Amino acid sequence: MTAFVRDHWYVAAYGHEIGRELFSRTVLGEPLVFYRSTDGVVVALADRCVHRRYPLSESRLDGDTIVCGYHGFTYDSAGTCVFVPGQARIPRTARVQAYPVVERDSFVWVWIGDPDRADDSLIPRAPWLADPAYTTVCGMEPLAARYGLLVDNLLDLSHETYLHGGYIGTPEVAATPITTEVDEDAGIIRVSRRMADAECPPFYAKSTGIDGRITRWQDIEYHPPCLYLLHSRVAPAGVLPQADGSDPNGFHVEVVYAITPETEHSTHDFWAVARDFALDDEGVSEFLRESNRTVVLQDVRALDILERVIQTEPEGYQELSINIDAGGLAARRILRRMAQA
Ligand code: FES
Ligand SMILES: [Fe+2]
Repeated sequence: MTAFVRDHWYVAAYGHEIGRELFSRTVLGEPLVFYRSTDGVVVALADRCVHRRYPLSESRLDGDTIVCGYHGFTYDSAGTCVFVPGQARIPRTARVQAYPVVERDSFVWVWIGDPDRADDSLIPRAPWLADPAYTTVCGMEPLAARYGLLVDNLLDLSHETYLHGGYIGTPEVAATPITTEVDEDAGIIRVSRRMADAECPPFYAKSTGIDGRITRWQDIEYHPPCLYLLHSRVAPAGVLPQADGSDPNGFHVEVVYAITPETEHSTHDFWAVARDFALDDEGVSEFLRESNRTVVLQDVRALDILERVIQTEPEGYQELSINIDAGGLAARRILRRMAQA
């Protein structure tokens, strides 16, 4: 199993999930409680009262402090205890851990590892999600599988043909070879599949209105451990970007996944689909939201099954890898390296 990469930023939530209600979510095995302070800043604290472990998420917000729902220990937004019941002296060790948080591109990013290393310039970007030139639909599905299975899944889209037929899969996806590039210094993996003349799957036919065959490009950019981008371009077959790089006749969809381990055997599968066409068409938004959620749930079902298979397989079982696995194998190698660093 790929170990956790602790010293890194992870998406814990969408910004719209965090408000003035206490919100709990476990990241890398650590239960966290989130809230938005009175001046709008997202706070993340360990979700376990230092007194008798009561979850702070089951407690009450009082201004910018959390009052523990069991005996009233009260914590400020830095996790420092500012009140204990029945005595004036507050023990020096009465504090819960506060985690660095940054809100960016509609996501709430949290740093679980050494807080001194939490440099926010290391957060990879997904600017489309908060860009008015795009319309985005998004969601999060819980996955009862280790995060490495989702990384494998997303880096090898040949499975679209078999697992997502009728939605995003067509025969050409599995049939077209990929190119894989690894930027070792930046730790970024790029996998591209460019189909010159392909069947248009319903996901794109119904959203773009293209009638007939398409040129379909899938350019993956994985920023391990957490952020996965799929730059997807579709256009009527043969229509390419212009010489100056502009692409007025192409339809662009930025598919973004944030892969956040919850525990060693479960994962938060955040997904978003941002498009640069039919911006105000609520029907297209609804169609893409439902279709993409269905596709994600098809993956969730398969990966949940694989997790159970792995847990019951004999020690030392060997997989077989082929050309389509180049991106996934590179990702595993870089994740191992990051986990050891
Ligand atoms: S468990 Fe929180 S105050 Fe006792
Ligand atoms: Fe999939």
